[in-house]
Amino acid sequence: MPQPGPGEVRVRIRASGANPSDWKTRKGGSGRKLIAPPVIPHSDGAGDIDAVGEGVPASRIGERVWIWNGQWKRASGTAAEYIALPAQQAVPLPANVSYDEGACLGIPGFTAWQAMRLAALQPGDTVLVQGGAGSVGHYAIQLAKLRGATVLATVSSEAKAAHARAAGADHAIDYRREDLGARVAELTGGRGVDCIIEMDLAANAASYPKLLRPHGRVVVYGMSGAEATLPTMWLMQNSIGLQFFLIYEIAQADRDAGVRELTDLLAAGKLKHTIALRLPLAEIARAHDLVEGGTLMGNVVLAP
Ligand SMILES: NC(=O)c1ccc[n+]([C@@H]2O[C@H](COP(=O)([O-])OP(=O)(O)OC[C@H]3O[C@@H](n4cnc5c(N)ncnc54)[C@H](OP(=O)(O)O)[C@@H]3O)[C@@H](O)[C@H]2O)c1
Repeated sequence: MPQPGPGEVRVRIRASGANPSDWKTRKGGSGRKLIAPPVIPHSDGAGDIDAVGEGVPASRIGERVWIWNGQWKRASGTAAEYIALPAQQAVPLPANVSYDEGACLGIPGFTAWQAMRLAALQPGDTVLVQGGAGSVGHYAIQLAKLRGATVLATVSSEAKAAHARAAGADHAIDYRREDLGARVAELTGGRGVDCIIEMDLAANAASYPKLLRPHGRVVVYGMSGAEATLPTMWLMQNSIGLQFFLIYEIAQADRDAGVRELTDLLAAGKLKHTIALRLPLAEIARAHDLVEGGTLMGNVVLAP
């Protein structure tokens, strides 16, 4: 049983979210080493605060919370019955949001929020959300619509197209079967999109000259390879902005602003969440395999 140290809370976990980062970390991918044996996986989760450490008001006991960076640079993640972690990493969960939904926020919800902040969309902008049926893409589409943008989303099946449209996408394009460049040209009157939210830079960068307008920008949160080949001459000649980020390591000011906006949107019931599967914690290995398979639409959550 973990004990909350100074400045920490202990959370009784009700739902633990599995993300691609979790199986990548487990496999030692992206150059990451497991920080200690044993590691309890998972960054995302939700539950109830049942104890507080020194310096944390006792009034937080009983609070419903969602968790960010549960396992980031720490051995003990959310795939457990209890976790002790810094108090600010347990964010109040509005009463209208379930624990399962709260377990989707730390990585998918927050990544989409940070991508939107960096995209700096203005009402009327057109944005292409790559992987529009993905966990992050699902929230990115919704947040882009809330900012008044026209949203194009790439998908790979009719079911994924329906999922992206249900999140608010104005157009879903099957990037495996359709000519993506031609479809984007058609939908933007030949101008190209203002911004791309990118989930696989390595696979998709070559197509940017067909997709982006001059002075457009790409916000990159994912890539299938450690290195990518970029159309650099075209990027330079067209003054394209390229912005990367890792959600675990965003600035404190961004973290605070994201928590505020996500909390307001959640409380107002303005975000849709999709739980693809809820499994008992004992089936964590299956959960990781399913997330790695990449065919699900929505998040996998585990119940301790
Ligand atoms: N930088 C960060 O902090 C950060 C944060 C969160 C996630 N990530 C990374 O971002 C990626 C997506 O995460 P996720 O949780 O959203 O995963 P996910 O739920 O598996 O969704 C990924 C989606 O992208 C689609 N896709 C795959 N290859 C594509 C391509 N070349 N072009 C367009 N769409 C493609 C997939 O469908 P099809 O295969 O059917 O096309 C799937 O719908 C992962 O690699 C993850 O590690 C990074």
